[in-house]
Amino acid sequence: MNKKIIKTALCCFAVIAMIILGFTTYTYFSIKDYLDSKTVFAVVIVGVVVTLAMGIAIAGVSAFAMALYKDKENSEDKKMAQIIYGSEVAKELKDEMKMEIAKREDEGKKVPTLCVILVGNNPASVSYVTGKEKACKEIGLGSKMIHLEENTTQEELMRVVRECNEDSSIDGILVQLPLPKHLNEKEVLWAIDPNKDVDGLHPINVGKLHLGEEGFVPCTPQGIIELLKRMNVDLRGKRAVVIGRSNLVGNPVARLLMNENATVTICHSKTENIQAICKEADILVVAIGKAKFVTKDFVKEGAYVIDVGVNRNDEGKLVGDVDFDDVVDHVSAITPVPKGVGPMTITMLLKNTIQACKNAEV
Ligand code: GUN
Repeated sequence: MNKKIIKTALCCFAVIAMIILGFTTYTYFSIKDYLDSKTVFAVVIVGVVVTLAMGIAIAGVSAFAMALYKDKENSEDKKMAQIIYGSEVAKELKDEMKMEIAKREDEGKKVPTLCVILVGNNPASVSYVTGKEKACKEIGLGSKMIHLEENTTQEELMRVVRECNEDSSIDGILVQLPLPKHLNEKEVLWAIDPNKDVDGLHPINVGKLHLGEEGFVPCTPQGIIELLKRMNVDLRGKRAVVIGRSNLVGNPVARLLMNENATVTICHSKTENIQAICKEADILVVAIGKAKFVTKDFVKEGAYVIDVGVNRNDEGKLVGDVDFDDVVDHVSAITPVPKGVGPMTITMLLKNTIQACKNAEV
């Protein structure tokens, strides 16, 4: 029971006790000249006992009523934040895709195939690529993994990309980023056939996104919009703030949010008053790559927070760009790390690969 309730109960008790004591005293002086001393003594004792009993009873009832009222007030005031598990949405979508692929097989149609090109052995990239292969297997999608040496030359990598472009068994191509420093990332991405660019990073697809035309959209931003839509968040006219301006996440997600009629601001490393800008956001997307950068001082009460960050803390545990524990009681909904946005990225890659295969059929 909290202090306020105890105080209220004691006050009630004191007031009631004073009223009844006053009444008893008044009665005592009124009757003392008419009754013998024994009877007067009995009247005083009865008066004191009744005072105590009534005081305790009333204090108890008021404390109980107040506790009930407080509980109700708390449950109305403190709505629990919704935790948006992308892993669950991803599972639903993968089940749907699995059925679609099985149906295609039954109908004698081609099984869509994704080709992932990995250069070198960056541990994070190896883990992402393994995850992609596993997801393809799970839903019956074909997958081809091309793992090249760290010291692969630009010419060799360009030749591999061109071969994949020509290979009709491959529907989607993804070159895992980042590439080793000696390689020219832009030249490689621009060499991918835009019709097989399931990563949405070829300038034709980037241009289409910005012109509002159909094309492949980068997977993480696409996954974020899918999550928001599944949660029935009405983006129209809402204030959205994106922290980060990368080609993989920040820029495309800002454009997608604008295409959904949100009013969008992009913040980045040079933005002044970043905290104040974020605090205005109904939807806050954080893709800055700094562990626990966003605290509750950045977040508007009741906002929707999408955490794209994947960072390792000192204990090697995965943490997001948002300080989840600090923010969670403050927001309407938030994505956790892990199991939030990450699983949606792979799922959108599978979806794009199936789409690439279908596009090639018409
Ligand atoms: N590295 C981390 N995320 C991605 C992604 O979405 N696409 C590619 N190609 N590389 C990545």
